[in-house]
Amino acid sequence: MEILRSVAELREWSRWERNDGGNTIGLVPTMGALHEGHASLIRAAKASVGFVAVSIFVNPTQFGPNEDFARYPLTFEADCALAKAEGADVVFAPSVEELYPAGSATFIEVQGLSDRLDGQSRPGHFRGVATVVAKLMIAAEPDRAFFGQKDAAQVAVLRRMVTDLRLATEIVVCPIVREADGLALSSRNVYLSVEERTWALTLSRAVRQTEALFAAGERRAARFTQTARMTFAEMPQIRVDYIALVDWATLEPVEMAAPSSLFAVAAWVGSTRLIDNAILK
Ligand code: PAJ
Repeated sequence: MEILRSVAELREWSRWERNDGGNTIGLVPTMGALHEGHASLIRAAKASVGFVAVSIFVNPTQFGPNEDFARYPLTFEADCALAKAEGADVVFAPSVEELYPAGSATFIEVQGLSDRLDGQSRPGHFRGVATVVAKLMIAAEPDRAFFGQKDAAQVAVLRRMVTDLRLATEIVVCPIVREADGLALSSRNVYLSVEERTWALTLSRAVRQTEALFAAGERRAARFTQTARMTFAEMPQIRVDYIALVDWATLEPVEMAAPSSLFAVAAWVGSTRLIDNAILK
């Protein structure tokens, strides 16, 4: 497995594999601190394309001024070992200056969608995500890019971007990987104390309840959100950011669940913000 540092190298690798090697290319964008959720994306990529590039880049533009950019976990050696073990062909790990040359003034803004759900509580977050993923897609020219349903609003923003920019990359969404007790894996789970780790289970509990209500025939958004609010009320240590039933494509609230409605929650557990969701289908 090769480690590439420059956009030029990544582009050259991808073009060579496609044109001379006749291969399809997959891209798995990450910020590192890789866990089983990321591993599942690499495996899905490996099963569906010829060559897989995993990017590892803690993208400064998607963090707000008071967020965890400076303390985001860095585990590069272990990340490379995991990527290699899962069959990645290339790790792309650029510097900030490589992806954002001095004087950078170009950003991708997916209007409307970027102000909903996580975008509402994290202004500028999705602008940073869309910008860096566009840069990665333009550099790697992947046939497919793999993302987790864990960040369902991110998927909605990136689908819109790929459609609007007519990028030739298909977005593939992979299921949420969870711990045995239901907690969705996240690089930020390492911030949780033992106590907070138990409080954090409220998110997956609320998601499971919603799925059970939906399976029992409930369709009213108000019932889903009220039930979830009651569940969170039992755990006052947690501060809810949002509980919402939205259309997965537009992230606009819906009153009745329809195929592909997204039920999403975000909450603060101590100083750590966690998210979870279910696609109701
Ligand atoms: P990061 O949080 O590192 O996540 C990288 C990818 O792994 C995302 O597509 C995310 O949805 C997926 N992922 C994380 N936890 C998961 C889980 N428990 N199950 C399944 N997939 C999971 O998301 C980002 O980085 C960044 O915003 C990025 C897209 C790389 C742009 O900087």
